[in-house]
Formats: sequence, structure tokens, C-alpha cells
Amino acid sequence: MKRTKIILDCDPGHDDALALTMAAASNRIELLAVTTSAGNQTPDKTLNNALRMLMLLNATDVPVASGNQRPLMRHLKIADYVHGETGLDGAELPAPSFEPQDCGAVELIAKVLKAQAEPITLVVTGPMTNIALFLRVHPELEDKIKQIVFMGGAAGQGNVMPTTEFNMAVDPEAAKIVINEGIPLVMAGLNVTLKAQIRPDDLEHIKAINNPVAQAIAGQMDFYGEWYGQDKFGLAGTPVHDPCTIAYLLKPEIFEAHNAYIDVETQGSLTAGETVVDFTGLMEKDNNAKVLMNLDRVQFIEMIIELLHKFD
Ligand code: BDR
Ligand code: CA
Repeated sequence: MKRTKIILDCDPGHDDALALTMAAASNRIELLAVTTSAGNQTPDKTLNNALRMLMLLNATDVPVASGNQRPLMRHLKIADYVHGETGLDGAELPAPSFEPQDCGAVELIAKVLKAQAEPITLVVTGPMTNIALFLRVHPELEDKIKQIVFMGGAAGQGNVMPTTEFNMAVDPEAAKIVINEGIPLVMAGLNVTLKAQIRPDDLEHIKAINNPVAQAIAGQMDFYGEWYGQDKFGLAGTPVHDPCTIAYLLKPEIFEAHNAYIDVETQGSLTAGETVVDFTGLMEKDNNAKVLMNLDRVQFIEMIIELLHKFD
């Protein structure tokens, strides 16, 4: 069976941690490296969380490197109000007994890509700062990127402002660089990720899986669900945004996708970080992205549960 080779650039983060878990669990994905970005928490904490999760997952052979300390042109705004003091509150995780690579994210991505005969997939589940820097430092390696599958943005929705999503809002300039590079894009934005909900019954199923990984994920989901359980959101469950990227790679058929031209607004005083999504050719540009708009939620949850059982 051919495995999809990926590098995961993430800012764990509860939903990043679940995406990482799914990638590590699946025998149809080969996780070549994990790089961490500043986003949900400060870069020291997101790095530590990636290392702790890889310990839990018994995947300490995966090379890890830390990336940017702050966005390209802005101050870092974290989401501790969602992800807590550690960035991954809700479960005890093992202290890391292995070290990150002796290089930064940009160099680790370069090293991994250089070693590949065929182009591979970059999965990005945090702000795009590392990837923008990588593309500026190593343009000669761009051909080694088959596609970028990212969680971020939305068509006409937002979660930090009415039309801006967190990952794009943290570093709009980085997102603009990456999205305009001409690399094929798959965008898992809020249109789909808000529908990718773990409902209370699903969480009970996860809690009943008797292995340390599922137990940790359940604890993390309890914490993360506190934020999304607020009445003001009116949600029937907890949306797990970042796992949509891995789920798409494993089962694209459970997603509804539309081709579109996308770009990022960087100037607006109310809209910096908005993804402008043109489905109907209004901007007379060639489509550059598949935009995920809906998913079969039941199959998505079944996939998560099946992958969590791999740690039995
Ligand atoms: C995105 O922001 C972060 O809080 C999550 O990890 C996800 O990547 C959702 O807007
Ligand atoms: Ca994230």
C-alpha cells in the first residue's frame, strides 16, 4: 500500500494534537517530520506539546523542529483562552525524553524534502509563518511540494473577526506568500471544520477506549470543549478543525470540495487575514485551491475512533 508522505507544521493546540495522533496512527500516512509554529501558544510551548504528544504516541523517531518565534510583521496573538496555559491543557502527558533537531523548522523541512525522490504533501494546521519563510529561503525546493493541505480561513466566516479565522489572522502576510506561490492548495476552512464536531455521545465512545492515547485525547477534548460549549456559539458539539486535513488525505470522498481562486486580505483594518474565496470567477483568476465545504460527520468520527483503537 502506498503511504502518503507528509510533513506536519502545527501549533499544538488540542485539535493539532488530534491531527498529529491520527497521522501517527494511520498506516496510510508516513509522518516524515513535525515542525511547530507560534500560534495557539508561544513557540516554546507548542514545541513542548509536539514533543510530549510524540512521546505519548510512541513516535519519538519522528524528527521535530521549532520554527518562527513570531509572525512576519505582527505581534504574536495566542489562543490561550481556547487551549489553556500549556496550550494543551486537560491531560497529563509524558515529559519529553528526546530532543528536537539541531536546526530550525525551515532547515528541517529543507532536509526532508531534499531526501525525497517524489514531491510530498505539506500539512499546515497553524499560522503559515514557517512555510512562508521556507519558501523564501529555499525556493529551489518548491517543486518537492506536491500540495499544501491547510486548516485556515473560510469563505465568508470567521472566528476571531466576522470574516477572519485564527490561523490566517495571526500571520496574514505569511498566508499571502504561501497562498500566492502557485503550489496546489487544499483549504480546510471554517465552512467545513465547524461541522467536524465531536458530539457528547462521540466523546463517550472515545472515553470508553481503554488505551493511554484515547484517554489523553478524551481529557484534552473535555478541556477544549469548554470553550466551544458556550451558548453564544450554539454548537451541538466541539469542532475539531485541524483533523480535517488528515481526514481529507485519508478519505477525500467524505468531503464536499469546490474549486476556487483564493487570496488573503492583509490591508483591511477589520479584515486582515480574511481569505477571499472566489468560486465563480468574479476575479477572473485561475482556480488555485480546492475548498472543503462540508463533510460526512459520522464517517469522520468513525475514522477518529478507528485510529484511536490502533493504540490498544
Ligand atoms: C484554528 O485555530 C486554532 O485555535 C486551532 O488549532 C485551529 O488550527 C481554528 O481557527
Ligand atoms: Ca492549529
